Amino acid sequence: MSKKRILTGIKATGEWMHIGNYFGMFRPLIENSKWRESFLMLADYHSLTSVHDPESLRKNKKRIICEFFALFPEDSEIIVFEQSQVQHINNMTWILSSVTPYSLMLRAHSFKDSQNKNSEINMATFNYPILMTADIISYDVDIVPVWKDQKQHLEFARDIAQNFNKTYKQEFFKLPEAHIEESVMTIPGIDGRKMSKSYNNFLWVFDDEKTLKKKIMSIPTGSEGLDDPKDPDNCTVFSLIQLFASSEKQSEIRQKYAAWGYGYGHAKLELLDLFVAYYAQARDKYEYYLENFHELEKKLNSWNSYANSIATKKFNSLIQIIGL
Ligand code: TRP
Repeated sequence: MSKKRILTGIKATGEWMHIGNYFGMFRPLIENSKWRESFLMLADYHSLTSVHDPESLRKNKKRIICEFFALFPEDSEIIVFEQSQVQHINNMTWILSSVTPYSLMLRAHSFKDSQNKNSEINMATFNYPILMTADIISYDVDIVPVWKDQKQHLEFARDIAQNFNKTYKQEFFKLPEAHIEESVMTIPGIDGRKMSKSYNNFLWVFDDEKTLKKKIMSIPTGSEGLDDPKDPDNCTVFSLIQLFASSEKQSEIRQKYAAWGYGYGHAKLELLDLFVAYYAQARDKYEYYLENFHELEKKLNSWNSYANSIATKKFNSLIQIIGL
């Protein structure tokens, strides 16, 4: 039996990896890559819903690719590729749109949110979930790790795949499963509310130290004094500490929360140190890859052709089935 496949994607829109994405999506991908064939796709066509400046798009793409490689472990076998290098991806999208009900698309949160923000939206924003479906089902993907805001898109992918299978009376497309790390989804943002794009309350993995410090120092806490006991399980700072600290370190900090002479300011500095140490190596690698991007381009080219070959094979069978 062939290895199961796992795939996820990120848009190149000028937003970078935040810790929600890192722990919710990126780390599960790395963990799964040990026993599944794993793909990480840069969704550059998807970026066109909002990025119309070629220079920014190129820059964003480069930065995100460097982030990926900076965060991979040394022995990573994750296949990174660019959506736009997959020859038939938009043909696939068109064919899928012929089995996608309009009423389904009207229910998309992403589209409704954009509609609320802008007076006019483009058709790419409207069709976004169909392209995302093509991204997934062109490779017979089993599992898609995503941040919870993508949950509905995964439901759409299943619905659309199922509609196709029903229409053409065969199990041609595999139905993908979303993988959502529930434990990570409850981690608060730096304002104490749930982490969310609309609140812009993330810590970003590659934030510089000054920005990080400012953000961490601004986290709201209780008003207990230095010598009062504090409840770590009811504290945004401690919730974040748990992401980066070993279990020994966590129990050490728990004890400090109960002891004299330890205030929230101390806990915040501890969080800052843990965060910086956690990503220290990745930061160095990131700078290195920005300078030596050609090293990555070589790998990327061969992975692009690999991804393209899988999708092309699927596409060739597809056009037989539909009678083109
Ligand atoms: N829509 C995803 C996001 O905005 C990005 C994406 C595009 C994606 N294609 C995908 C994610 C396929 C998972 C699988 O974050």
